[in-house]
Amino acid sequence: MNLAQRMLALEPSATLAMSGKAKEMKAAGVTVYDLSLGEPDFNTPEHICQAAFEAIKSGKTRYTPAAGIMPLREAVAAAYKAKHGLEYKPTDVVVSNGAKHALHNAFTVTVNPGDEVIIPAPYWVSYAELVKLAGGVPIIVQTRQEDQFRLTAELLRASITPRTKALLLCSPSNPTGSMYTPEQLGELADVVLEKDIIVIADEIYENLVYGDNKFASFATVRPGLQDKTILINGVRLAPSNIAKSMAALQSQETSNPCSVSQYAALAAIQGDQSCVAKMLAEFSKRRDYVTSRIAAIDGMSCVEMSGAFYAFFNIQAHLGKKYGDKMVETDSDWCLTLLEQQHVATVMGSAFGAPGYARASFAASMETLKEAFDRIEAFVK
Ligand SMILES: Cc1ncc(COP(=O)(O)O)c(C=O)c1O
Repeated sequence: MNLAQRMLALEPSATLAMSGKAKEMKAAGVTVYDLSLGEPDFNTPEHICQAAFEAIKSGKTRYTPAAGIMPLREAVAAAYKAKHGLEYKPTDVVVSNGAKHALHNAFTVTVNPGDEVIIPAPYWVSYAELVKLAGGVPIIVQTRQEDQFRLTAELLRASITPRTKALLLCSPSNPTGSMYTPEQLGELADVVLEKDIIVIADEIYENLVYGDNKFASFATVRPGLQDKTILINGVRLAPSNIAKSMAALQSQETSNPCSVSQYAALAAIQGDQSCVAKMLAEFSKRRDYVTSRIAAIDGMSCVEMSGAFYAFFNIQAHLGKKYGDKMVETDSDWCLTLLEQQHVATVMGSAFGAPGYARASFAASMETLKEAFDRIEAFVK
Protein backbone atom coordinates (compact mmCIF):
# COMPACT_ATOMS: atom_id res chain seq x y z
CA MET A 1 0.00 0.00 0.00
CA ASN A 2 1.34 3.44 -0.93
CA LEU A 3 1.63 5.87 1.92
CA ALA A 4 0.62 9.51 1.71
CA GLN A 5 3.30 11.88 0.39
CA ARG A 6 3.44 13.67 3.72
CA MET A 7 4.65 10.49 5.43
CA LEU A 8 7.57 10.05 3.02
CA ALA A 9 9.23 13.18 4.38
CA LEU A 10 8.46 12.52 8.04
CA GLU A 11 11.40 11.62 10.28
CA PRO A 12 10.50 9.60 13.39
CA SER A 13 11.57 11.17 16.70
CA ALA A 14 15.28 10.51 17.25
CA THR A 15 14.98 10.94 21.01
CA LEU A 16 12.31 8.25 21.14
CA ALA A 17 14.44 6.06 18.83
CA MET A 18 17.46 6.34 21.15
CA SER A 19 15.36 5.66 24.22
CA GLY A 20 13.82 2.70 22.33
CA LYS A 21 17.31 1.25 21.76
CA ALA A 22 18.15 1.80 25.41
CA LYS A 23 14.90 0.05 26.43
CA GLU A 24 15.73 -2.94 24.17
CA MET A 25 19.12 -3.27 25.87
CA LYS A 26 17.48 -3.01 29.32
CA ALA A 27 15.00 -5.74 28.32
CA ALA A 28 17.98 -7.94 27.39
CA GLY A 29 19.30 -7.53 30.95
CA VAL A 30 21.88 -4.78 30.39
CA THR A 31 22.09 -1.93 32.93
CA VAL A 32 21.74 1.22 30.83
CA TYR A 33 22.44 4.77 32.10
CA ASP A 34 19.69 6.47 30.20
CA LEU A 35 20.05 10.21 29.56
CA SER A 36 18.10 10.13 26.30
CA LEU A 37 14.63 11.35 27.27
CA GLY A 38 13.67 14.46 29.19
CA GLU A 39 11.46 12.51 31.54
CA PRO A 40 11.86 13.48 35.22
CA ASP A 41 12.50 10.66 37.68
CA PHE A 42 10.09 12.23 40.24
CA ASN A 43 6.67 10.77 40.84
CA THR A 44 3.67 13.01 40.18
CA PRO A 45 3.00 14.96 43.43
CA GLU A 46 0.44 13.34 45.72
CA HIS A 47 -2.26 16.07 45.55
CA ILE A 48 -2.26 15.88 41.74
CA CYS A 49 -2.62 12.06 41.79
CA GLN A 50 -5.41 12.48 44.34
CA ALA A 51 -7.31 14.88 42.04
CA ALA A 52 -7.05 12.32 39.23
CA PHE A 53 -8.37 9.51 41.53
CA GLU A 54 -11.24 11.71 42.68
CA ALA A 55 -12.14 12.60 39.09
CA ILE A 56 -12.36 8.89 38.27
CA LYS A 57 -14.35 8.05 41.40
CA SER A 58 -16.82 10.88 40.94
CA GLY A 59 -17.57 9.94 37.34
CA LYS A 60 -15.71 12.79 35.63
CA THR A 61 -14.84 10.32 32.93
CA ARG A 62 -17.19 11.55 30.21
CA TYR A 63 -16.65 13.81 27.25
CA THR A 64 -15.59 17.36 28.10
CA PRO A 65 -15.72 20.38 25.80
CA ALA A 66 -13.17 19.86 22.99
CA ALA A 67 -11.03 22.79 24.16
CA GLY A 68 -11.04 21.60 27.79
CA ILE A 69 -13.13 22.09 30.93
CA MET A 70 -13.96 25.72 31.72
CA PRO A 71 -12.53 25.71 35.30
CA LEU A 72 -9.15 24.67 33.91
CA ARG A 73 -9.22 27.28 31.13
CA GLU A 74 -10.19 29.91 33.72
CA ALA A 75 -7.40 28.77 36.05
CA VAL A 76 -4.82 29.01 33.25
CA ALA A 77 -5.98 32.51 32.26
CA ALA A 78 -5.86 33.57 35.94
CA ALA A 79 -2.38 32.08 36.39
CA TYR A 80 -1.06 33.97 33.33
CA LYS A 81 -2.58 37.20 34.64
CA ALA A 82 -1.03 36.69 38.09
CA LYS A 83 2.37 35.60 36.86
CA HIS A 84 2.89 37.56 33.65
CA GLY A 85 0.24 40.29 33.74
CA LEU A 86 -1.25 39.01 30.48
CA GLU A 87 -5.01 39.35 29.98
CA TYR A 88 -6.50 36.28 28.31
CA LYS A 89 -10.13 35.25 28.26
CA PRO A 90 -10.72 31.62 29.26
CA THR A 91 -11.87 31.04 25.66
CA ASP A 92 -8.37 32.03 24.46
CA VAL A 93 -7.04 28.99 26.32
CA VAL A 94 -7.08 25.57 24.65
CA VAL A 95 -6.20 22.41 26.58
CA SER A 96 -4.55 19.65 24.52
CA ASN A 97 -3.11 16.18 25.05
CA GLY A 98 0.37 17.53 25.77
CA ALA A 99 2.53 20.23 24.22
CA LYS A 100 3.28 18.20 21.06
CA HIS A 101 -0.41 18.08 20.29
CA ALA A 102 -0.69 21.82 20.99
CA LEU A 103 2.16 22.54 18.57
CA HIS A 104 0.66 20.30 15.91
CA ASN A 105 -2.63 22.19 16.17
CA ALA A 106 -0.92 25.58 16.17
CA PHE A 107 0.90 24.82 12.91
CA THR A 108 -2.17 23.20 11.34
CA VAL A 109 -4.40 26.23 11.88
CA THR A 110 -1.86 28.88 10.87
CA VAL A 111 0.37 27.44 8.12
CA ASN A 112 -0.69 27.22 4.46
CA PRO A 113 1.10 24.95 1.98
CA GLY A 114 4.46 26.51 1.13
CA ASP A 115 4.45 28.94 4.08
CA GLU A 116 7.82 29.21 5.77
CA VAL A 117 8.37 28.77 9.49
CA ILE A 118 11.70 29.96 10.88
CA ILE A 119 13.20 27.50 13.35
CA PRO A 120 16.49 28.42 15.05
CA ALA A 121 18.88 25.44 15.31
CA PRO A 122 19.67 23.57 17.50
CA TYR A 123 15.93 22.88 17.68
CA TRP A 124 13.75 20.38 19.47
CA VAL A 125 13.26 17.35 17.19
CA SER A 126 9.51 17.67 16.56
CA TYR A 127 9.22 21.26 15.29
CA ALA A 128 10.43 20.76 11.72
CA GLU A 129 8.42 17.54 11.31
CA LEU A 130 5.22 19.14 12.62
CA VAL A 131 5.67 22.11 10.24
CA LYS A 132 6.10 19.68 7.30
CA LEU A 133 2.98 17.75 8.34
CA ALA A 134 1.05 21.04 8.15
CA GLY A 135 2.36 21.55 4.57
CA GLY A 136 4.80 24.26 5.60
CA VAL A 137 8.52 24.62 4.91
CA PRO A 138 10.83 24.66 7.93
CA ILE A 139 13.56 27.28 7.47
CA ILE A 140 16.39 26.22 9.74
CA VAL A 141 18.56 29.12 10.90
CA GLN A 142 21.86 28.09 12.46
CA THR A 143 22.82 29.84 15.68
CA ARG A 144 26.29 29.66 17.24
CA GLN A 145 27.63 28.26 20.48
CA GLU A 146 29.52 31.59 20.92
CA ASP A 147 26.10 33.34 20.94
CA GLN A 148 24.73 30.85 23.51
CA PHE A 149 22.73 29.37 20.61
CA ARG A 150 20.44 32.41 20.55
CA LEU A 151 18.85 33.82 17.44
CA THR A 152 19.84 37.47 16.94
CA ALA A 153 17.60 40.20 15.53
CA GLU A 154 19.94 40.51 12.50
CA LEU A 155 19.74 36.79 11.74
CA LEU A 156 15.97 36.87 12.11
CA ARG A 157 15.58 39.87 9.81
CA ALA A 158 17.83 38.23 7.18
CA SER A 159 15.77 35.01 7.30
CA ILE A 160 12.35 36.59 6.70
CA THR A 161 10.96 36.33 3.15
CA PRO A 162 7.54 37.17 1.71
CA ARG A 163 6.59 33.51 2.44
CA THR A 164 7.47 33.65 6.14
CA LYS A 165 4.46 32.90 8.31
CA ALA A 166 5.90 32.25 11.72
CA LEU A 167 8.92 32.18 13.97
CA LEU A 168 9.28 29.32 16.42
CA LEU A 169 10.96 30.26 19.70
CA CYS A 170 11.79 27.83 22.48
CA SER A 171 13.09 29.45 25.67
CA PRO A 172 14.41 27.91 27.91
CA SER A 173 15.59 25.65 25.13
CA ASN A 174 15.40 21.98 24.55
CA PRO A 175 18.08 20.87 23.55
CA THR A 176 20.62 23.54 24.62
CA GLY A 177 19.37 24.81 28.01
CA SER A 178 20.04 28.34 26.79
CA MET A 179 17.41 31.06 27.19
CA TYR A 180 16.77 34.60 26.00
CA THR A 181 16.94 37.55 28.37
CA PRO A 182 13.88 39.85 28.32
CA GLU A 183 16.02 42.41 26.41
CA GLN A 184 17.01 39.88 23.74
CA LEU A 185 13.36 38.83 23.34
CA GLY A 186 12.52 42.53 22.96
CA GLU A 187 15.00 42.87 20.08
CA LEU A 188 13.41 39.87 18.31
CA ALA A 189 9.95 41.28 19.07
CA ASP A 190 10.82 44.57 17.32
CA VAL A 191 11.49 42.62 14.11
CA VAL A 192 8.29 40.58 14.55
CA LEU A 193 6.21 43.74 15.03
CA GLU A 194 7.79 45.34 11.96
CA LYS A 195 6.98 42.33 9.74
CA ASP A 196 3.79 40.43 9.07
CA ILE A 197 4.67 37.25 10.99
CA ILE A 198 3.45 35.47 14.09
CA VAL A 199 5.44 33.76 16.87
CA ILE A 200 4.84 30.34 18.29
CA ALA A 201 6.55 30.54 21.68
CA ASP A 202 7.20 27.19 23.35
CA GLU A 203 7.56 28.09 27.04
CA ILE A 204 7.10 24.60 28.46
CA TYR A 205 10.21 24.97 30.67
CA GLU A 206 9.29 28.38 32.16
CA ASN A 207 9.40 27.02 35.72
CA LEU A 208 12.83 25.44 35.32
CA VAL A 209 15.09 28.48 35.32
CA TYR A 210 18.39 28.46 37.26
CA GLY A 211 20.42 31.01 39.20
CA ASP A 212 19.83 34.68 38.44
CA ASN A 213 18.37 34.09 35.01
CA LYS A 214 15.03 35.84 34.45
CA PHE A 215 12.28 34.25 32.42
CA ALA A 216 9.97 36.52 30.40
CA SER A 217 6.96 35.25 28.50
CA PHE A 218 7.40 36.38 24.89
CA ALA A 219 4.02 38.14 24.67
CA THR A 220 4.98 40.48 27.54
CA VAL A 221 8.12 42.06 26.15
CA ARG A 222 6.46 44.65 23.88
CA PRO A 223 2.93 46.05 23.67
CA GLY A 224 0.92 44.57 20.80
CA LEU A 225 2.68 41.20 20.80
CA GLN A 226 -0.16 39.22 22.34
CA ASP A 227 -2.14 39.36 19.07
CA LYS A 228 0.81 37.88 17.20
CA THR A 229 1.78 35.15 19.66
CA ILE A 230 0.64 31.60 20.35
CA LEU A 231 1.98 30.54 23.75
CA ILE A 232 2.62 26.84 24.18
CA ASN A 233 2.90 25.64 27.74
CA GLY A 234 1.33 22.78 29.73
CA VAL A 235 -1.74 24.09 27.84
CA ARG A 236 -1.77 26.87 25.26
CA LEU A 237 -2.99 30.44 24.87
CA ALA A 238 -3.66 32.21 21.62
CA PRO A 239 -5.37 35.22 20.07
CA SER A 240 -9.14 34.57 20.06
CA ASN A 241 -9.60 33.64 16.40
CA ILE A 242 -6.66 31.21 16.50
CA ALA A 243 -7.85 29.65 19.79
CA LYS A 244 -11.29 29.16 18.27
CA SER A 245 -9.81 27.42 15.20
CA MET A 246 -7.62 25.22 17.37
CA ALA A 247 -10.65 24.21 19.43
CA ALA A 248 -12.56 23.36 16.23
CA LEU A 249 -9.62 21.34 14.91
CA GLN A 250 -9.29 19.52 18.22
CA SER A 251 -13.02 18.68 18.21
CA GLN A 252 -12.42 16.65 15.04
CA GLU A 253 -9.10 15.17 16.11
CA THR A 254 -9.74 13.88 19.59
CA SER A 255 -13.16 14.93 20.96
CA ASN A 256 -11.41 16.17 24.10
CA PRO A 257 -8.20 15.93 26.09
CA CYS A 258 -8.40 13.16 28.72
CA SER A 259 -10.95 14.29 31.34
CA VAL A 260 -9.05 12.78 34.29
CA SER A 261 -5.82 14.54 33.28
CA GLN A 262 -7.68 17.83 33.06
CA TYR A 263 -8.81 17.57 36.70
CA ALA A 264 -5.26 16.63 37.64
CA ALA A 265 -3.95 19.68 35.72
CA LEU A 266 -6.43 21.90 37.55
CA ALA A 267 -5.11 20.66 40.90
CA ALA A 268 -1.55 21.20 39.66
CA ILE A 269 -2.25 24.83 38.74
CA GLN A 270 -4.38 25.74 41.76
CA GLY A 271 -2.73 23.60 44.43
CA ASP A 272 0.40 23.94 46.53
CA GLN A 273 3.36 24.98 44.35
CA SER A 274 6.09 23.91 46.81
CA CYS A 275 6.68 20.72 44.77
CA VAL A 276 7.85 22.92 41.87
CA ALA A 277 10.44 24.62 44.09
CA LYS A 278 11.63 21.22 45.39
CA MET A 279 12.06 19.85 41.87
CA LEU A 280 13.81 23.03 40.75
CA ALA A 281 16.27 22.80 43.67
CA GLU A 282 17.09 19.19 42.77
CA PHE A 283 17.46 19.95 39.04
CA SER A 284 19.66 22.90 39.92
CA LYS A 285 22.08 20.60 41.81
CA ARG A 286 22.17 18.19 38.89
CA ARG A 287 22.75 21.02 36.44
CA ASP A 288 25.75 22.25 38.45
CA TYR A 289 27.10 18.72 38.65
CA VAL A 290 26.71 18.05 34.91
CA THR A 291 28.25 21.44 34.06
CA SER A 292 31.33 20.61 36.14
CA ARG A 293 31.67 17.12 34.64
CA ILE A 294 31.51 18.42 31.06
CA ALA A 295 34.01 21.20 31.80
CA ALA A 296 36.43 18.61 33.23
CA ILE A 297 36.50 16.50 30.06
CA ASP A 298 39.21 17.54 27.62
CA GLY A 299 37.84 18.97 24.38
CA MET A 300 34.21 19.06 25.57
CA SER A 301 32.15 22.18 26.20
CA CYS A 302 28.58 23.40 26.57
CA VAL A 303 26.81 26.73 26.92
CA GLU A 304 25.50 27.89 30.29
CA MET A 305 22.37 25.93 31.04
CA SER A 306 20.01 28.69 32.13
CA GLY A 307 16.89 26.54 32.11
CA ALA A 308 15.23 23.20 31.21
CA PHE A 309 17.06 19.93 31.98
CA TYR A 310 19.38 19.25 29.08
CA ALA A 311 23.12 19.53 28.52
CA PHE A 312 24.08 19.99 24.88
CA PHE A 313 27.78 19.37 24.62
CA ASN A 314 30.26 19.90 21.84
CA ILE A 315 32.02 16.63 20.94
CA GLN A 316 33.76 17.79 17.76
CA ALA A 317 37.23 17.23 19.24
CA HIS A 318 36.30 13.58 19.85
CA LEU A 319 35.17 12.73 16.33
CA GLY A 320 37.38 11.17 13.66
CA LYS A 321 38.90 8.85 16.30
CA LYS A 322 38.95 5.10 16.80
CA TYR A 323 37.22 3.23 19.62
CA GLY A 324 38.74 -0.27 19.54
CA ASP A 325 38.61 -1.00 15.81
CA LYS A 326 35.51 1.14 15.24
CA MET A 327 35.90 4.53 13.54
CA VAL A 328 33.79 7.21 15.23
CA GLU A 329 33.27 9.81 12.49
CA THR A 330 29.96 11.49 13.29
CA ASP A 331 27.91 12.47 16.31
CA SER A 332 25.59 9.53 15.50
CA ASP A 333 28.55 7.11 15.56
CA TRP A 334 29.64 8.67 18.84
CA CYS A 335 26.24 8.29 20.56
CA LEU A 336 25.64 4.79 19.22
CA THR A 337 29.14 3.59 20.16
CA LEU A 338 28.77 5.15 23.61
CA LEU A 339 25.50 3.25 24.05
CA GLU A 340 26.86 -0.07 22.74
CA GLN A 341 30.20 0.04 24.57
CA GLN A 342 29.50 1.99 27.75
CA HIS A 343 25.72 1.58 28.01
CA VAL A 344 25.07 5.32 28.25
CA ALA A 345 22.16 6.62 26.18
CA THR A 346 22.35 10.19 24.85
CA VAL A 347 20.95 11.73 21.64
CA MET A 348 23.02 12.84 18.63
CA GLY A 349 23.12 16.58 17.93
CA SER A 350 22.30 16.04 14.25
CA ALA A 351 18.77 15.06 15.33
CA PHE A 352 18.46 18.66 16.59
CA GLY A 353 20.01 20.21 13.47
CA ALA A 354 23.46 20.51 15.11
CA PRO A 355 25.96 17.85 14.02
CA GLY A 356 29.03 17.58 16.25
CA TYR A 357 27.06 17.76 19.50
CA ALA A 358 25.26 15.35 21.84
CA ARG A 359 22.40 15.94 24.25
CA ALA A 360 22.17 14.44 27.73
CA SER A 361 19.06 14.92 29.84
CA PHE A 362 19.70 15.54 33.53
CA ALA A 363 16.16 14.63 34.49
CA ALA A 364 17.84 11.38 35.66
CA SER A 365 18.90 10.65 39.26
CA MET A 366 22.24 11.87 40.63
CA GLU A 367 23.51 8.24 40.83
CA THR A 368 22.68 7.67 37.17
CA LEU A 369 24.32 10.96 36.18
CA LYS A 370 27.47 10.14 38.13
CA GLU A 371 27.89 6.70 36.60
CA ALA A 372 26.97 7.98 33.11
CA PHE A 373 29.56 10.78 33.21
CA ASP A 374 32.24 8.43 34.62
CA ARG A 375 31.55 6.25 31.60
CA ILE A 376 31.50 9.16 29.12
CA GLU A 377 34.85 10.29 30.51
CA ALA A 378 36.29 6.77 30.19
CA PHE A 379 34.87 6.53 26.65
CA VAL A 380 36.54 9.68 25.35
CA LYS A 381 39.84 8.80 27.03
C1 LIG B 1 10.50 22.03 24.08
C2 LIG B 1 9.41 21.01 24.21
N1 LIG B 1 8.20 21.31 23.75
C3 LIG B 1 7.20 20.41 23.82
C4 LIG B 1 7.38 19.14 24.36
C5 LIG B 1 6.26 18.12 24.32
O1 LIG B 1 5.60 18.01 25.43
P1 LIG B 1 4.52 16.82 25.65
O2 LIG B 1 5.31 15.69 26.16
O3 LIG B 1 3.59 17.45 26.63
O4 LIG B 1 3.85 16.53 24.34
C6 LIG B 1 8.62 18.80 24.89
C7 LIG B 1 8.84 17.48 25.49
O5 LIG B 1 9.91 16.96 25.52
C8 LIG B 1 9.66 19.76 24.79
O6 LIG B 1 10.89 19.47 25.24
